[in-house]
Amino acid sequence: MMKLGKIKKGVSVIKRLNQDQELGHLVEGLSDDYDSWLALIKGKKLQKLMAHLVNHQETRDLTNHLARNQKTAEMMAYLVGNVGARSLTQMLVGLMQNHPERTQYFEGIFRTWDNELNFTISKEFLYWLSNRSEEFRSILEELFSDNKLAPNLFDDLYQWESQLKFEKVRSQSLIRELYLAELFPNIGEIKIPVGVIHEESFHSNQVDMLYVCAIASFLQARQIFEFGTYRGQTTCGLAAIAADVKVTTLNLPPEKDPRYAPYIGQFIKTSPYRDRITQIFADAYEFDPSPYANQMDFIFIDADHSYKGVENDTKKALEMLRPGGVIIWHDYAAKSPGVYQFIRDFSKDRPVFRIRNTCLVVYWDGVDVNNFRPHPLPQSLERTEYSPGSA
Ligand SMILES: C[S@@+](CC[C@H](N)C(=O)[O-])C[C@H]1O[C@@H](n2cnc3c(N)ncnc32)[C@H](O)[C@@H]1O
Repeated sequence: MMKLGKIKKGVSVIKRLNQDQELGHLVEGLSDDYDSWLALIKGKKLQKLMAHLVNHQETRDLTNHLARNQKTAEMMAYLVGNVGARSLTQMLVGLMQNHPERTQYFEGIFRTWDNELNFTISKEFLYWLSNRSEEFRSILEELFSDNKLAPNLFDDLYQWESQLKFEKVRSQSLIRELYLAELFPNIGEIKIPVGVIHEESFHSNQVDMLYVCAIASFLQARQIFEFGTYRGQTTCGLAAIAADVKVTTLNLPPEKDPRYAPYIGQFIKTSPYRDRITQIFADAYEFDPSPYANQMDFIFIDADHSYKGVENDTKKALEMLRPGGVIIWHDYAAKSPGVYQFIRDFSKDRPVFRIRNTCLVVYWDGVDVNNFRPHPLPQSLERTEYSPGSA
């Protein structure tokens, strides 16, 4: 197990020398020193170091050696296209060759990458690793040595990879990110039953439904439509916003969705607001929106999360929406590619808002997203950048 003190010392040396712009010299000096090499890998100045290492004869020789006689050649070939990953790999390879006592650990890393055959992940992993805290990497190293890490690591990496895909599509979308109160001023004053929070769900953001109901209340919506009832938790929250609200909620009939069947509308049965709710049992693909044309103040889309499903529901929602009304989509998140890919395409013609720190996307008919002036937020310490030594 690597000693943290040594890593810290190595990193501080690197930092100091880096300031003196003597990195190239440093790399040569340290090439035989295991701890310092490891410190280099873990150093935060990695990107700069890489630039120097690419021209470093010893690491180049070692890389060539490995590429000739190791099963990792395929991976190496792939990584060669990427300067950053290549250099980091070179450093790892150098360590393997120079420090046989650590071979098991480093081979473990390569083996795991090899088995996965997912080079994109490997490459991203290298970048990701280079930005972790020293403590984290220290623990990671220990886990790798004990062969404890692989399954969890790859679960995490897959999640991380899907997050990257999501971020990429998000950057291609005409979507403006605002805090809830920037879009809807003083919305914090609105009262919603806490019961709408999906506390036991595995969802990354459990307060989303609270926001959905708060927005409907803020907008004084009276005709509301929901795609996807499930237990009716959000339905009941929406029905709670006013005595004269009408909530129509659509879900597949139980027999057509056995997984959800026992739960559909569960909350509605005992809700004090059940008289304000109409349940429709139908497949959204077959549902005819024409009787509701131009009537809905507020529509919540949260049913079939495939691209086709969201497309179908959105098309019908637009038909039902009254001028000036609002549509909200749920699950705009890495786990729902259908949703975020659809939103990218939809936003090309109709830019949308995304509420920060939620999975909610908002289309507000008639509101010019690009020229919308956000309402001021109250002062907050959270948005003040902290720097050590500042008062
Ligand atoms: C994510 S849940 C809805 C959650 C609910 N909006 C809430 O806030 O608690 C999705 C629901 O959509 C329903 N659903 C899926 N595909 C559908 C379709 N094609 N037509 C109608 N409902 C569908 C499922 O049966 C399920 O109950």
